[in-house]
Amino acid sequence: MTRILAIETSCDETAAAVVEDGRKLLANVVSTQIELHRRFGGVFPEVASRQHVLAIQTVIGEALSAAGVDRVSDLDAIAVTQGPGLAGSLLVGVNTAKGLSFASGVPLLPINHLEGHIYSNWIDLGDRPGAQDDFPILVLIVSGGHTELILMRGHGTYELLGSTLDDAAGEAFDKVARLLNLGYPGGPSIQAAAERGEANRYPLPRPLMDAANHRFNFSFSGLKTAVLNLTRQLERVGIEPTAKQTAADIAASFQEAVVDVLVEKSAEAARIYAVRQVCICGGVSANATLRIAAEKRFGAMGIPLHIPPLFLCTDNAAMIAAAAFYRLKTDPEAAAGGLSMDVFANLPLTKKNG
Ligand code: KG4
Ligand code: ZN
Repeated sequence: MTRILAIETSCDETAAAVVEDGRKLLANVVSTQIELHRRFGGVFPEVASRQHVLAIQTVIGEALSAAGVDRVSDLDAIAVTQGPGLAGSLLVGVNTAKGLSFASGVPLLPINHLEGHIYSNWIDLGDRPGAQDDFPILVLIVSGGHTELILMRGHGTYELLGSTLDDAAGEAFDKVARLLNLGYPGGPSIQAAAERGEANRYPLPRPLMDAANHRFNFSFSGLKTAVLNLTRQLERVGIEPTAKQTAADIAASFQEAVVDVLVEKSAEAARIYAVRQVCICGGVSANATLRIAAEKRFGAMGIPLHIPPLFLCTDNAAMIAAAAFYRLKTDPEAAAGGLSMDVFANLPLTKKNG
C-alpha cells in the first residue's frame, strides 16, 4: 500500500490530496480563489501567490486529517506540482512540500501539472473505475493553457501528436466570454449562456479541420477573431452582440465550433493509432457539450472513453498524487534530488514527434 500526499498551487486553486496506490482517493481538498480574481477578469499573479501562502497550511492539514494520516512520516511520498504555471504560485507549493519532506524524511517528487491532468483519469470512484492499464491510450488535454493530443504507449510515456498553434481551448473560451460580457471564468459562463442559445445561428469556422499538414494541431485564435468580426458586423447593422439572446446564440455557435474540432481531431487520431482507450482531461473537459459529443463519437467507434467527474477536471491535487504513484512505479529514483527542485513556469511534457 502506497499513500502519497500531493500539493498543487500552480494557478488559482490551493489544493492538497492523499491518494492510495494511485487510484483510491482518501482526501481531496481544494480552496479556490475564484472570487478574489473575478474583479480582475483573470488570475492576478501576486494575489494568487499571496492567497496560496494564507491557505496552504489549512488545506494540507484538512487533507491529512480527512485521510486519517496522523504523522507526515507515515506517508510513502510527497508530490508537488513543479510546473507549468505561475512561478510565484508554484513556489508556495514547492517550498511548503520541501519543508514537509525535510522535516519528515519522506521523499519528495516533482510532478508536471499536465501529467497530473492526464492521471485525473486513473482515480477510481467506484461507479467510475477510471482508465485501465491498457495501451495505447489517446489523451486530449484541454485546459486554460494547453490543448494537446498525446499518445501514451505505457505509463509515463508521452508522444505529442499535436497541439495548439496559438491559443489554448480554455483561453479561447475565456477571451470570447470577455467579448460577450459573459463574465469570468469564461468556460462555465459560455456553457451557461450557450444553453439558451442556438448553435446554428451563426456559422463560425472550424480552424485546421481539414488541414493535411496540421492534422492533429489546433488553432483557436482565428476562431476568436471570427467571433470578434461577427460582433462588429452585428453592431454595424444595429444588433447589440452582448444582448442576452444574441450573446447566447454566439456563445452556442462558438462552443459548437470548438467542440467539433476537438472531437473530430481526437477521433481521427484514435482511429489512426488504433488506441484501446481515449482520455480527455483539463478544465475544458468539464464542458457538457464536449462530454456529450465525445461520448457519442467514441461510443459509435466502440472505444472506451474516460473523462473525469467535474471536480477532477479543474485543478486539484488528487491528480498530482495519482501521477506521482505511476511515476514512482516506472522510475523508483524519481524522488532523488526532490529537495533541490526548482519551479518552471514553462515545462513541456513531451517533445514534438519527429
Ligand atoms: O485545467 P484548468 O483548471 O487550469 C489550467 O491548468 O489551465 O483549466 C481552466 C480552464 C479555463 O480556461 C476555464 O474557462 C476552462 O478551463 N473551463 C471550461 C469549463 N470549465 C472550466 N471551459 C469550457 N466549459 C466549461 N464548463
Ligand atoms: Zn490545470
